[in-house]
Amino acid sequence: MIIATTIAEVRQQVQQWKQAGLSVGLVPTMGYLHAGHASLVDRAVTLCDRVVVSDFVNPTQFGPNEDLAAYPCDFEGDCALLDAHGCDMVFHPSVSEMYPDGNGKTDTYVTMVDDMPRQLCGKTRPIHFRGVCTVVAKLFNIVTPDKAFFGEKDAQQLAIIRRMVRDLSYGVEIVGCPIVREADGLAMSSRNTYLTAPERQAALILSQTVVLGKERVAAGEKDADRLVAQMKANIASEPLAEIDYVAAVDGVTMQSVHTLTKGTLVAMAVRFGKARLLDNFTVEE
Ligand code: PAJ
Repeated sequence: MIIATTIAEVRQQVQQWKQAGLSVGLVPTMGYLHAGHASLVDRAVTLCDRVVVSDFVNPTQFGPNEDLAAYPCDFEGDCALLDAHGCDMVFHPSVSEMYPDGNGKTDTYVTMVDDMPRQLCGKTRPIHFRGVCTVVAKLFNIVTPDKAFFGEKDAQQLAIIRRMVRDLSYGVEIVGCPIVREADGLAMSSRNTYLTAPERQAALILSQTVVLGKERVAAGEKDADRLVAQMKANIASEPLAEIDYVAAVDGVTMQSVHTLTKGTLVAMAVRFGKARLLDNFTVEE
């Protein structure tokens, strides 16, 4: 596996692959990789001839009071996992390689004028998706992948990236991949490492609430407001859980809906101590 730290190295290698007629997949990550990330790499390996994984904690997507400084990292561990899953090149740039002005400063951002990035996570993280779109656009420009792989755990991120690709005519196919969970149901996340033992136990309320929501939908619930209220009440039964949001939205536009139909995204963000965790499901019919 090639370890690249500069944009020039990535460009040169990708150019060689493309000249040889090989397709290229990109899996953007912030490192501290787990089986959720690995599932994206596995998918990329099956669909593309060569797979590039970016491993970069992107400063522009963190707000001033967020966990940028505390964000966990283990680049050696990441390389071992990526190598084992058939990744061809890991791109691990410094902040100044990605943002030459230093300190994650940039004068040019990719921002969405629609209010999609201001829904759900955007309500408490106002600059988050501007940073995500900017770094993902840069990665697309550097790697020029045929396909790029994103997890459905970050459903709003996936929807926003799909929108950006459409609006800016990127020739990249976006592939969404299902949520990978721990054996007890907790959605895998690099941020799970912030949980104390009691919080880790309490966090099970998230996946249990997803199961509850799916069961209510399967039983015929069509009223989104009633479903959200039931899910909130369920989460509130856990004293260590602090709800950021539980919402039912259109899975493409992220606008609130009152009726549950195929494609409705039911998403939540809940805090447990220092960790803010996400979970969601999409109504299937
Ligand atoms: P990160 O949180 O490292 O996640 C990288 C990718 O892995 C995302 O597409 C995310 O949805 C996916 N992922 C994380 N946990 C998952 C799980 N349990 N099951 C399935 N997929 C999972 O998301 C980011 O990084 C950044 O915002 C990034 C897109 C890299 C831009 O900086």
